[in-house]
Amino acid sequence: MESPEGQKMLEFRRSLPAYKERDALLNAISQNQVVVVSGETGCGKTTQLPQYILESEIEAARGASCSIICTQPRRISAMAVSERVAAERGEKLGESVGYKVRLEGMKGRDTRLLFCTTGILLRRLLVDRDLRGVSHVIVDEIHERGMNEDFLLIVLKDLLPRRPELRLILMSATLNAELFSSYYGGAPTIHIPGFTYPVRAHFLENILEMSGYRLTPYNQIDDYGQEKMWKMQKQAQSFKKRKSQLTSAVEDVLEDADFRGCSLRTRESLSCWNPDSIGFNLIEHVLCHIVRKERPGAVLVFMTGWDDINSLKGQLQAHPLLGDPSKVLLLACHGSMPSSEQRLIFEKPEDGVRKIVLATNMAETSITINDVVFVVDCGKAKETSYDALNNTPCLLPSWISKAAARQRRGRAGRVQPGECYHLYPKCVYDTFADYQLPELLRTPLQSLCLQIKSLELGGITEFLSRALQPPELLSVQNAVEYLKIIGALDENENLTVLGCNLSMLPVEPKLGKMLILGAIFNCLDPIMTVVAGLSVRDPFLMPFDKKDLAETAKAQFAGQEYSDHIAVIRAYEGWKEAEREQSGYEYCWKNFLSAQTLKAIHSLRKQFFYLLKDAGLVDQNVENCNKWSHDEHLVRAVICAGLFPGICSVVNKEKSIAMKTMEDGQVLLHSNSVNAEVPKVPYPWLVFNEKVKVNAVFLRDSTGVSDSILLLFGGNISRGGLDGHLKMLGGYLEFFMKPALAVMYLSVKRELEELIQRK
Ligand code: CDP
Ligand code: MG
Repeated sequence: MESPEGQKMLEFRRSLPAYKERDALLNAISQNQVVVVSGETGCGKTTQLPQYILESEIEAARGASCSIICTQPRRISAMAVSERVAAERGEKLGESVGYKVRLEGMKGRDTRLLFCTTGILLRRLLVDRDLRGVSHVIVDEIHERGMNEDFLLIVLKDLLPRRPELRLILMSATLNAELFSSYYGGAPTIHIPGFTYPVRAHFLENILEMSGYRLTPYNQIDDYGQEKMWKMQKQAQSFKKRKSQLTSAVEDVLEDADFRGCSLRTRESLSCWNPDSIGFNLIEHVLCHIVRKERPGAVLVFMTGWDDINSLKGQLQAHPLLGDPSKVLLLACHGSMPSSEQRLIFEKPEDGVRKIVLATNMAETSITINDVVFVVDCGKAKETSYDALNNTPCLLPSWISKAAARQRRGRAGRVQPGECYHLYPKCVYDTFADYQLPELLRTPLQSLCLQIKSLELGGITEFLSRALQPPELLSVQNAVEYLKIIGALDENENLTVLGCNLSMLPVEPKLGKMLILGAIFNCLDPIMTVVAGLSVRDPFLMPFDKKDLAETAKAQFAGQEYSDHIAVIRAYEGWKEAEREQSGYEYCWKNFLSAQTLKAIHSLRKQFFYLLKDAGLVDQNVENCNKWSHDEHLVRAVICAGLFPGICSVVNKEKSIAMKTMEDGQVLLHSNSVNAEVPKVPYPWLVFNEKVKVNAVFLRDSTGVSDSILLLFGGNISRGGLDGHLKMLGGYLEFFMKPALAVMYLSVKRELEELIQRK
């Protein structure tokens, strides 16, 4: 640490607010088994506190025996933070500081401080229930109330009495620390007082004013907000002057939110502010304003997800000012981006270049970009919500909470006074909920229930009733029922052989099942592609203005297969072929494919292979594992086995196809599906991975399957665990090869008939 760089780093560390609390923190930790630490984002909780513990253990000559685990809700923060902490210690990553995230890690024999995702720690609990050898567990970002974190808190609560010397530290950004403290029987709370510069908030009305528009209330009934109506008024003079530049931005606003006569009194009436749409032009306009007129400083733009970050990035790159690399460094910040791009986010750009980072709500609390002076907040975040009554997950952009909006704004005041542009009116902000609902209460619980069983934590319902805020009973029952249907749990809620295997794979249970069957049936390559595609995202791009061409390209891959999943398999195979001939890029361009997504699929596939191999599920003779990959019947059948009970019946009507699922009645196919526009799907059933409720229920992706495939690979293989499956499925293979075994088919014929009748 003698180098000038090391000195500078040391000074930086000492300047952080956490440093003043160092002794108090260490004291509290040595005196108490559980300590809650709260403090403003950027005060040094994540990077400093684990180091303080490490340093004090080293001072107390326990350096060699301590083992500190600090969990992060996201991969990217675990990786970025560990890299930072290693650098602060003047070490390489993997020496005393390491990280581990799903399928990746950097950790050595001397690693004493490990940053990992919460999921990794839960996985470790599978094989080491008492966390033997771990001296400190730090659970970071608990205020986010992620499902894994809430789950971990219950598990640790049970573990603490068994491990009296284990120390647990909970870290949270915003206040609300009392909630966690009382959950652990009144654990002491230490607050790190922070310092941030003031940030000026501009709401939409102020932004419009800058642009020559005014948002004015009219028809105001009384001061107590009985009925407030708003309208846009042109400020005639200035408007004329600046019209050309602004027309599109303002029109965008008008489209985004119908101001004309909209009532903004209650949260319900906000539906006229369609939270689905984000005003790209408005964002572009605000960014131009900042780049042209404002003082130097980086800009952080909060978007809802990868999709709109990418589309916005595309739009901005085409802009004469914002797309000029000599003036603007445009970066995206998202959980699945490569680490080389990650680093750029934290670096200072060259003089005269304005850094603009497009991020998701990840940048709210878990990463800190020091030079941000301007924040642009679209006011929305994509959040999964779960409709237990209809057993349907919904992924919709929705308004964020007041706490989140405040947090976003705060990101602008790290180094000097900042500005925040909220792209919605103040009166809309006033209707936001105070805090976001915990994830445990708004997502399906299948993976979690499987984990509870595999960790032998007792009855699922009883266990979850001890959560900080327990989920609804109906959601728990739905999840358990689902696990029984897919054969992961038996009638008595015990794990089956399949269930055991599934709990070892870090993917959703249905995708895990598909992988296992792909391995068993030796058609691993195509199945790994399907599963990777379903866990990353669809590689097919559907640009708004070229949708027809894009759809045609996708349809070519599907050919006569009536399957979105098989289209992905073929697109991936084609891309690999093209890559070998150095023409991967052209191939993607021509076929409307995302090279980035295909690369992600490629690397995920490799990881799946090692996981399955580790689990002993891949054929000893590796060459065998693709012996049946060319058999599209079999691939279709394995897809069906994985996606069941995601199934709907096809009722071909005159021109359009009507679909029905068991629970929802009529459903629609998403327009991006290859089955959406075909005149007739010659299969009686479609299996799907995802249905989404928007205004109607839509199936995003689908594959046609026949009665016999459904019967043999779908419902009736669901009971009896993997052994039962294997017998049945073994029969299937022979059935295809030796028609004499049609006897087997006959034995299930009655069930088939019933199934068809129910349709
Ligand atoms: O966890 P908390 O939000 O309290 O703060 P932190 O993540 O520990 O960050 C403390 C300081 O280190 C902040 O000023 C960050 O900007 C800085 N930091 C950094 O410069 N580069 C990183 N990769 C991580 C943190
Ligand atoms: Mg932090």
